[in-house]
Amino acid sequence: MRIAVIGSGYVGLVAAACFAELGHSVVCVDKDRNRIDELNKGGIPIYEDYLPELLAGHRGRNLKFSTSVSDAVRESAVIVIAVGTPICANGEADLFFVESVTKAIARSVDGYKLIVEKSTVPVCTSAWIERAMVLNGCHRHQFDVASNPEFLREGSAVSDFLYPDRIVVGADSERALRILRDVYRPLIDGSYARGADGVPKPEAAMVPPHYIETSPQSAELVKHSCNAFLAMKISFINAVAAVCEAVGADIEDVCKGIGTDTRIGPRFLRAGIGYGGSCFPKDVAAFRSAAREHGYKFDLLDEVHRINEQQRQRFLKKVRTALWTLKDKRLAVLGLAFKDGTDDVRESPAIEIIKCLLAEGCHIVAFDPAATERAKGVLADSVAYASDAYAAATGADALLILTEWKEFAALDLARIRELLNYPIVLDGRNLYSPREMAAAGLDYYSMGRAAAKISHPTPLEPRIKESK
Ligand code: UGA
Repeated sequence: MRIAVIGSGYVGLVAAACFAELGHSVVCVDKDRNRIDELNKGGIPIYEDYLPELLAGHRGRNLKFSTSVSDAVRESAVIVIAVGTPICANGEADLFFVESVTKAIARSVDGYKLIVEKSTVPVCTSAWIERAMVLNGCHRHQFDVASNPEFLREGSAVSDFLYPDRIVVGADSERALRILRDVYRPLIDGSYARGADGVPKPEAAMVPPHYIETSPQSAELVKHSCNAFLAMKISFINAVAAVCEAVGADIEDVCKGIGTDTRIGPRFLRAGIGYGGSCFPKDVAAFRSAAREHGYKFDLLDEVHRINEQQRQRFLKKVRTALWTLKDKRLAVLGLAFKDGTDDVRESPAIEIIKCLLAEGCHIVAFDPAATERAKGVLADSVAYASDAYAAATGADALLILTEWKEFAALDLARIRELLNYPIVLDGRNLYSPREMAAAGLDYYSMGRAAAKISHPTPLEPRIKESK
């Protein structure tokens, strides 16, 4: 199958590389000439496991990069829209790029094309795409529009694409559904997973995945509902963590008790400084706004957002509790990315917390295994950047853990204790148990658990509870 993917961002580039991996002939298009030149020269603009291998294997063979939408449309049967849908000031998704690409596609159509929307869009966007195609001169029989949302997590996007739990496709025409079955055939029949040379199958992968065919509106709603539900799960557990702190319970124990209920499950129940990234904050706002446009006030989503914002403030309060005044304090920050396994700092809770600490006069020395370069684009030289966790900790008044990188859960605590000016660790991701931190001689503040204290109580903690 000849496929054009319009957009070479996280979703577009991963989708293009994975479609090529499934044996299709793919052209990936972007209007950013520098990015296309970089991709043609062998560059890899995003940090994503297995992406370098897929690009190296298919670039110049069945995967090419171009800046011409019209050429790509003419030579392809399936046109996948994977452009950005940034957020407007009022919370709505900005569909300007989707509409511009639709117009460009309409101008180039020279036979039947299946247009697949993969960008995260509000419900009814496929109907708007259909209308824009017709308004821009296409006959209705020349195209179909399908919705095929993506459920890729940054960091494991390639594995998520090739070993999905489910594939959701929404279309009104049988012809469109038939084409999409052909596109995903190697995943639907399990042949990709059986092959010896492919990306390794994750242990828990579901092969074959659920293959769900719906109307376009239902497919669009699956995407927003899914992200909003996961965000709600995180905010819910963060609210429970606040109650745990008030009554002396332990959120990790509570999570075990909740997560082992098979109706709920343990995933996305990690309490912490809240969710970030380019998806959850934007999609919660966009879903709320789309629901309002169609007459439903989705107040629950306001609360999800409010709790998420509150988490950063709750963490900052802990920093003040531990350190008294903040002006001129030197703080080591571990983690800049919005989560582990990525170099992405968009809407990163870590960056937001750093900005607040800088505003209070702190000096920050930060380390992240992958996101430092991107963070420099936001924080510039307002913070110092260390080459590893120990360099960051040297001489700091406290160590703050803000991203859940695995390596931050395996620090040499005795060494950290020695390097820090004060023996204080504030963990926004609950990577350690209070007991092991106390044993290492560190005051340890985390989320939804009593602080582990070895040093003198602070006046803000009149009732210090013993850690387990
Ligand atoms: C999310 C969804 O998980 C994907 O299914 C979806 O395809 C993607 O958005 C998208 O719409 O493109 P992603 O943004 O890469 O993926 O990140 P997640 O792994 O979902 O994490 C989001 C945020 O939630 C991170 O800041 C993470 O630290 C936080 N989180 C996650 C928690 O605070 N607690 C948890 O238990 C899980």
